[in-house]
Amino acid sequence: MLRNIYYYRLIFVYDRTTAQTEETMEDRIKQEIRDLLKERNAVLLAHNYMRDEVQEIADLTGDSLGLSIEAARTESDVIVFCGVHFMAESAAILSPGKTVLLPRLDAGCPMADMVTVEELVALKDRLPGVPVVTYVNSSAAVKAVSDICCTSANAQKVVASLPDREIIFVPDRNLGRYVARTSDKVFHFWDGYCPTHERLKAEDVRRRKEEYPDALFICHPECNPAVVDLADHVCSTTGMYDWCRQSPARRFIIGTEAGILYRLRADNPGKEFIQASPALICPNRKLTSLEDIRAALISMEPVVTVAEDIRIPAKRSLDRMLAIPRD
Ligand code: 13P
Repeated sequence: MLRNIYYYRLIFVYDRTTAQTEETMEDRIKQEIRDLLKERNAVLLAHNYMRDEVQEIADLTGDSLGLSIEAARTESDVIVFCGVHFMAESAAILSPGKTVLLPRLDAGCPMADMVTVEELVALKDRLPGVPVVTYVNSSAAVKAVSDICCTSANAQKVVASLPDREIIFVPDRNLGRYVARTSDKVFHFWDGYCPTHERLKAEDVRRRKEEYPDALFICHPECNPAVVDLADHVCSTTGMYDWCRQSPARRFIIGTEAGILYRLRADNPGKEFIQASPALICPNRKLTSLEDIRAALISMEPVVTVAEDIRIPAKRSLDRMLAIPRD
């Protein structure tokens, strides 16, 4: 018995020592990143889906719209974009004088890859004069052959701002369908989608609602229409922070990528946030680690650039979107 107690105490001491060592290592990397950010006059931006520790150290966290605005405004020489490739491209389009680092060049977006310039130009040829509204989750080259961009936060406003009766909506069919619910325009949807949001099924939501009957269900418009039909509220990631903070409800079922839970929980200690499905994890958003950020700031690589012949027309599409007043 005594030997057992000794053994368990040893495990306890070992566990604590390991935890402390790990904690110290993480703290040390964070401090190194902070020092490097100062040295390089760099700003660290992180999307709301990034790993908890990356969001924690970021100068700014936000949704696609907020981060593109901040990327354009920042005084820093260097933007370290903790997100996926199209976001770093948007920063490079809006801030041509700055160096844009994407710590993981392999962090892509499968939905953005579902549309190519050639395919979009072919559709435009079949529908002459119909304007193209392109979700920011798209490549710079696709933005360059579009008329205006939108994000999940402003898609309805962007569509409403156009005088045309018909529009081509690219690449997210789910966001497009969601906007079409409140619009009298004729939509030509692209058949793209986010594989992470698409994994959330209406059955998953129904099951969660049965488990937590008092909870409200909030989802991102990238979810499929059957899921959207079950939602108490549909909004962008930043919209979720605002809505849950203001809501008197105590429990929320969240239908978007798991990274959002970090700040929802941190900002609302008295409330409970339940993931709608454990499948809501985007492997691309989870790639970037603290070590990757430190390595990027040391080597000043990988740099994301956009050639001028793409940057100028892509910027026009983003500028048209940014000219639409926010609420
Ligand atoms: P928002 O952060 O703009 O809501 O977009 C989420 C997103 O990027 C999904 O891939």
